[in-house]
Amino acid sequence: MNKLSKAREYIAQNKDKINQEYRLGYHVMAEIGWINDPNGFVYYNGEYHLFYQYFPYASHWGPMHWGHVKSKDLVKWKHLPVALAPDMYYDAGGCFSGSAIEKDGKLYLMYTGHTNADPENPQNIRQIQNIAVSEDGINFDKVTQNPVISTKELPQDALHQDFRDPKVFKHGEDYYAVVASCNVDESGQILLYKSRNLINWTYTGVLARSENKLGKMWECPDFFKLDGKDVLVVSPMGLSRDGDRFCNTSSCVYIAGDFDFENCKFDYDSAEEIDSGFDFYAPQTMIDENGKRILIAWMQMWGRKMPTHEQQHGWAGAMTLPRELKLVNGKLYQNPVEEIKKYRINAVSYKDLTIKDSLSLEGIEGQNLELELDIDFLVSNKFGLKVLKDEENETIMYYDKIEGKFVFDRSKNGEDLTVEEKDSDIKYIRKVAVNLSNNRLKLRIFIDRSSVEIFIQDGEKTMTSTVYPRPTAKKVEFFTDREVIIRELNKWDIQL
Ligand code: FRU
Repeated sequence: MNKLSKAREYIAQNKDKINQEYRLGYHVMAEIGWINDPNGFVYYNGEYHLFYQYFPYASHWGPMHWGHVKSKDLVKWKHLPVALAPDMYYDAGGCFSGSAIEKDGKLYLMYTGHTNADPENPQNIRQIQNIAVSEDGINFDKVTQNPVISTKELPQDALHQDFRDPKVFKHGEDYYAVVASCNVDESGQILLYKSRNLINWTYTGVLARSENKLGKMWECPDFFKLDGKDVLVVSPMGLSRDGDRFCNTSSCVYIAGDFDFENCKFDYDSAEEIDSGFDFYAPQTMIDENGKRILIAWMQMWGRKMPTHEQQHGWAGAMTLPRELKLVNGKLYQNPVEEIKKYRINAVSYKDLTIKDSLSLEGIEGQNLELELDIDFLVSNKFGLKVLKDEENETIMYYDKIEGKFVFDRSKNGEDLTVEEKDSDIKYIRKVAVNLSNNRLKLRIFIDRSSVEIFIQDGEKTMTSTVYPRPTAKKVEFFTDREVIIRELNKWDIQL
């Protein structure tokens, strides 16, 4: 049996065996096995398609396949058969990350073929770019011209073993691909390639370089126009911690600027972190049917313990909620896609409620819910919430007005998650600088069994993290140092 049929059959026969304990209710996950990066996020023939880095046979990383889901509204997804398996000489070590684009009614996937002829010697790794095409959006044929970008098309100072994650887009009459590369000085750079037909590609130049200032290898680039600016998104490995920024083992940043396609020149300012939580990596974007730029990311992080793997639940990894992006005064804003509102049920609302010390409220609890809050701080310096709470577990978040920071603390989330943390003070705690607006704090919090996504001040900052509480940890408790007024509080259960 070929590798693709083998994977499809394995999933069909084994998917019911996984342990459901930490499964999410309204986020993309694989039916069984390991997932990492989102790939090939695209609107095609009236539906959204999302692919992902996938190893069906275990809850750890292995030779990469592409898993596949589709959706009409970006929230409710349907599983489709595995799209790609590592079955060619040029992708034998894995079909690594990539992207998708529609051309002449067909769906094109552009992905990295990873090979490692001699595993003892990483110098022999090769990464090259390939195309697979589909007429029905389900079954893909790898084209005979593969690889369409080989290591011969690399500039001289680029390493053959780190050349991956093509993100394809159209600009004018031409197709372009940004591809992650590693310079011989071991720092990341983004290369730009150009094509008329998605098959023949020419090297155009270096779009941006780390020069060892913004981490080592840059993974999973994306490049797009947003509110008048050109925005580069990359996931740098080995980026040094800078106070509250870049605290994870790997980071995700955006760089806004102006790109001159003629001369391959990108004028840009500094890089900013995209998400300030623990679990957010390798984001990818696409344009939805209304022309909005939507981002989705892997809701996990390299170099951490994954309880669903440790406890042999048979699966690991999920995606974030899809988020609509905006650029306001050069700053990236993220908000969950509007379509999530269709799945709100069991509304409970409170208005103008005074809180002193701490308080729980009738009807405000659960493990699959959305909370929306508008807080007037009055003279208080601290306000926060404990969620997913019982006698043993709780996930804490609060705003500290004196520090001017929003704090997320998962030290009592239920599981030990740390392996390669950069410093001991950030093992379980993340902080992000936030300003109150007229003494008000606005929050939207999405809790989904083993995940918490927090959208702060209308999406100006976000914090995304996994947590692993017991099924009984459902309570929500509000707390303050003095007295605040909750101007508005809404809770909905989210059910697909
Ligand atoms: C990022 C990444 C990519 C690579 C893929 C392999 O998480 O390392 O650079 O293509 O994962 O699964």
